[in-house]
Amino acid sequence: MNEKTSTAGPKLGLARAGFSSGFGVLAATLGSAVGLGNIWKFPYLTGANGGAGFLLVYVLATLLVGLPVMMAEISLGRAAKANPISTLQALAPKRQPWWLIGVAGMLAAFLILSFYSEVVAWVFAYVFKAMRGSILSSDPQVTEAAFNALISDPLQSLLWQWGVLVFIGGILLLGVTKGIEAMTKKLMPILFLLLLLLCAVSLSLDKALQGLAFLFQPDFSKITASVVLTAMGLAFFKLSIGMGTMMTYGSYFRDDQNIPLTTVRVMSADLCISMLAGIAIFPAVFTFGFAPAAGPALVFITIPAVFSQIPMGQWLMVVFFVLAAIAATGAMLSLMEVPVVILHERLGLSRPKATLLTIGLLVVLGASCALSNSALADFKLFGMSMFDLFDFVSSNIILPAGGIFIALFVGWVWGVDKFSRSLTNHGQLHNQKLAQAVFFLLRYVSPALILVVMLKGLKFF
Ligand code: TRP
Repeated sequence: MNEKTSTAGPKLGLARAGFSSGFGVLAATLGSAVGLGNIWKFPYLTGANGGAGFLLVYVLATLLVGLPVMMAEISLGRAAKANPISTLQALAPKRQPWWLIGVAGMLAAFLILSFYSEVVAWVFAYVFKAMRGSILSSDPQVTEAAFNALISDPLQSLLWQWGVLVFIGGILLLGVTKGIEAMTKKLMPILFLLLLLLCAVSLSLDKALQGLAFLFQPDFSKITASVVLTAMGLAFFKLSIGMGTMMTYGSYFRDDQNIPLTTVRVMSADLCISMLAGIAIFPAVFTFGFAPAAGPALVFITIPAVFSQIPMGQWLMVVFFVLAAIAATGAMLSLMEVPVVILHERLGLSRPKATLLTIGLLVVLGASCALSNSALADFKLFGMSMFDLFDFVSSNIILPAGGIFIALFVGWVWGVDKFSRSLTNHGQLHNQKLAQAVFFLLRYVSPALILVVMLKGLKFF
């Protein structure tokens, strides 16, 4: 094992395919970050946690914790050019078990994919529902009934999820560069334009101001410890950090890529898309009488109401859900990449076999989430359905814990020299000051902040 360890990094580095251009790197990293987290999770969590106050904490968590951890992860991946487990083994002193971060990351990937693939399944199903026109209504009762009919039907929930898993598996079998890069590059701008259109429509609605006030006027009394934890968990989930996804993508980064610039761009674009989704949804929520705290259903019941206000709304809604499915696909691919590369490089399975095994495990584990609103509706652990539990444990426990250890690893083991060489590309970029500031955050601020938020949010004190 140890012999293998010390050579794992460099050897794998030669054999790996990488992203072919600087723009490809940005597009693929953005493709991982942007997904249902923006279009589905961000609006529903903002709605359920009181609006603007939640948004404010989310932005702070992104800046203080998210960005530094993202730069750390990408740097580690690029330095070792291997999967997360081998990366941490190669960079850590012998016998220190930092590679366990990679193992936890693989577990998180399975938990996240189990519920995420079900939400993608709803999006796929909505493409067809939209085509039939039956959901195009601004009446909450109509759109809620349509959504409930879908999620409470065990057969539909399962079949759509299997469809999603087969689809994603197929793309992954094509390989890193072609599969991921090509998809994500082209379609993001169209999604962006469509969101802009939705915002314009939503802002023209009667109670648009009420929606905007909900989104931008913080009510500080609503910011409780668990709201802060949820906001921080969302920051990790949104940037795809804390479990090795960005480490894996970092391993495909070119050596001349400007890491801080790339992460800041990805973060800004990602935040921008979330904001657009929020502005598209909340004015409609208040105008048509939806409940802001409707939970995971929120987007699926309000988006049809917005489209019902525009000419050709039915067909634009089809386009919207197709693009949402594509954005979600980019994110899913990056999630799958972690277990697939680990199984491939650590257990010696061929890439196709590793992909098939991952899909097979997800069919089994994912079923528990697909059936959370039907056959398994009464099966609860810690008071939560499997869908909610997997979501809670991954976003609020595993990802932040992963973030703590990644920050500690860079701050106390890897060290300021290597980190600053990584952010400056060996002194070629003028990022020295920035590297030192980020290093300070990683060494002292981020780990402590994450820990306090976690312990308080989980009611340890
Ligand atoms: N960030 C993606 C989204 O917002 C989801 C995602 C992709 C993710 N890879 C991840 C979340 C890794 C956590 C960890 O939809």
